[in-house]
Amino acid sequence: MKNRKLLMIPGPTPVLREIQDEMGRETVAFGDSHFVADFQQLIDDLKELWSCDGMAFVVAASGTFAMEMAVVNNLKQGDRLLIVSNGFFGDRFIEIAKKKGYEFDVISAPWGKVVSPEEVQAQLENREYDAVTVTHVDTSTGAVAPIREIGKVVNKYPDTLYIVDGVCSVAGEPVDMTKDHIDVLFSGSQKAFGVAPGLALLWAGKKSLARRETLPDVIEYYADYKKWAPVMDDTKKYFATPAVNMTWAMKKSVDIIKAEGLENRYERHKRNAQAMRAALEAMGFTLLADPSCRAVTLSNPIYPKGVEDLAFRSELERQGVQVAGGLGAYAGKMFRIGHMGNVDEHELAATVCAIEKTMHKLLPGYELGKGITAFLKSLCTE
Ligand SMILES: Cc1ncc(COP(=O)(O)O)c(C=O)c1O
Repeated sequence: MKNRKLLMIPGPTPVLREIQDEMGRETVAFGDSHFVADFQQLIDDLKELWSCDGMAFVVAASGTFAMEMAVVNNLKQGDRLLIVSNGFFGDRFIEIAKKKGYEFDVISAPWGKVVSPEEVQAQLENREYDAVTVTHVDTSTGAVAPIREIGKVVNKYPDTLYIVDGVCSVAGEPVDMTKDHIDVLFSGSQKAFGVAPGLALLWAGKKSLARRETLPDVIEYYADYKKWAPVMDDTKKYFATPAVNMTWAMKKSVDIIKAEGLENRYERHKRNAQAMRAALEAMGFTLLADPSCRAVTLSNPIYPKGVEDLAFRSELERQGVQVAGGLGAYAGKMFRIGHMGNVDEHELAATVCAIEKTMHKLLPGYELGKGITAFLKSLCTE
């Protein structure tokens, strides 16, 4: 008999049966009164949980769409954007900025490290910007940016909006729009929310909604706040057909988050991340992210000498665990493993054991048990 396949890539993450059941429900009209109420509840909860003083948007799309929505409603052609990039997904804003005709500067950190608030401060003193983008957790490196400290810096410049990519962080890493001075936060359903891919989530604070009012009409049709705002204000209204079943799945995920409590959820992510990192290091991997900035949502382990990427990932998949490959210069040298959302300790322990079996097969002399011992010690002594 084959092992059940464990989805341990950094998104999509495992989807709980109760969330899957929402996707499997009989679809109703988007004007159905029960659906309208559920959708409204979801919007209200999203605003409250992440302290948004403006509006939350739930739109059928992926995280990349949310990146686009975040900039086009806050910047016009020729506006100045400061891109704070800690890796592959931070750099995606460069491509977007070029296409949109923004004037932009980039401050980058070497992969595995993050740009400091002081560097952001120095750049903002140097030049005026209409907005700053920061990737909270760059999935290519597993490093977490100090968004609160950067928020304090950006907040000193009232005409500069602070846009945070929370695709790989929201619902796993602590983030609070009010305390972190964030004007636009966005995410996707498929990572720390533990829902299947398909929904873009965006929170626009008051300042961002006001900025949209000052822009000439945006040329993007589906991404325009103004098209969606009436729906998010009153979910009976129609602009474009909402993803009814995905919206229910998202609502279930948020109900689970409320029942767990955000602080408990953050603590659980921290505990699991520590145990997973301890296991990976004990098994001979080196983590790409600097110890000062390791994310709790995923880890990016570099292979020890003698372990080849494709052989490792295909043997691990044969053992029943899927992980993702490295990106950019780390392709072939590293893999990426998610430990976020509703993944539980059983799944994490099984994953560590499958990695041990893979190492045993690929690396002569590998001593079995180092990883799971470190994992259990970390969990049981925390
Ligand atoms: C930090 C970050 N931003 C943006 C994206 C893009 O999201 P999507 O693949 O859902 O379009 C990803 C995807 O992994 C991501 O990790």
